[in-house]
Amino acid sequence: MSDLFRPGGPRIIAVANQKGGVGKTTTTINLASALVETGLRVLVVDLDPQGNASTGLGIDASDREFTTYDLLIGETALQDVIRATEIEDLGIVPATVDLSSADIELIANERRSFLLHDALRQTEMDEYDWDYILIDCPPSLNLLTVNAMIASHSVLIPLQSEFFALEGVSQLMITIREVRQTANADLRIEGIVLTMYDKRNNLSQQVEQDARDNLGDLVFETKIPRNVRVSEAPSYALPVIQYDPNSQGAIAYRALANELVNKHQRLAA
Ligand SMILES: Nc1ncnc2c1ncn2[C@@H]1O[C@H](COP(=O)(O)OP(=O)(O)OP(=O)(O)O)[C@@H](O)[C@H]1O
Ligand SMILES: [Mg+2]
Repeated sequence: MSDLFRPGGPRIIAVANQKGGVGKTTTTINLASALVETGLRVLVVDLDPQGNASTGLGIDASDREFTTYDLLIGETALQDVIRATEIEDLGIVPATVDLSSADIELIANERRSFLLHDALRQTEMDEYDWDYILIDCPPSLNLLTVNAMIASHSVLIPLQSEFFALEGVSQLMITIREVRQTANADLRIEGIVLTMYDKRNNLSQQVEQDARDNLGDLVFETKIPRNVRVSEAPSYALPVIQYDPNSQGAIAYRALANELVNKHQRLAA
């Protein structure tokens, strides 16, 4: 492990895919709450100016005084940026549209790609004792996503089970390789998770087959089905695990959390 990472600290995972609407935010929120359900403490960092993860976890847009932008700029104390949610042991750093100008505003800052990395490794972080930090990335390979990749141990890639799904993945892999070569040699691919899977649809099966043929073990066993309860949950400001604990979506995100934790326990053993 490189000296970028403090041993024993939280496992930091960037949830990224530059393609829009593939299930990044849905996966961030629901994987986070499924991990919490297993007894872990999880922080979500909303790194998308759209602020969907913040809304989905119940932080109203009018109630986001301190945000990820302040965390990046480093002028606000951590305890002011990290917010509690309705769910115990699930925290969030909310985002607002402010974040969309970060690329331009930070252009002269030499550490502009390392701001999130530095922020998440402030010694005050130790007080919070997070097990996982999940970073919800914007649909772009911009400075924000690069910040997430440099700050993270790994990248988790949601892949929508639709035509052209795999096309963007090679560009994403190139960016990951560049980040490894320049800034974060140990960045791993946590895995690729098929989202919005419809088992009755041949196309979903075809995308799964292509993904498993091309990406092998990187693809999680667990698939997230297309499930209306998953898409309804954010309008109740709840993860699907809380909104409808027995829905197919909740069951799938629990399975994904278990698969992830089991893998990390195996690797640590
Ligand atoms: N398993 C699912 N079943 C049904 N609907 C889903 C599922 N996963 C995601 N959706 C819906 O698909 C849409 C896109 O999902 P989401 O916002 O998570 O994608 P995203 O990759 O974060 O998008 P963006 O790139 O804009 O940030 C949302 O309306 C969401 O509710
Ligand atoms: Mg999103």
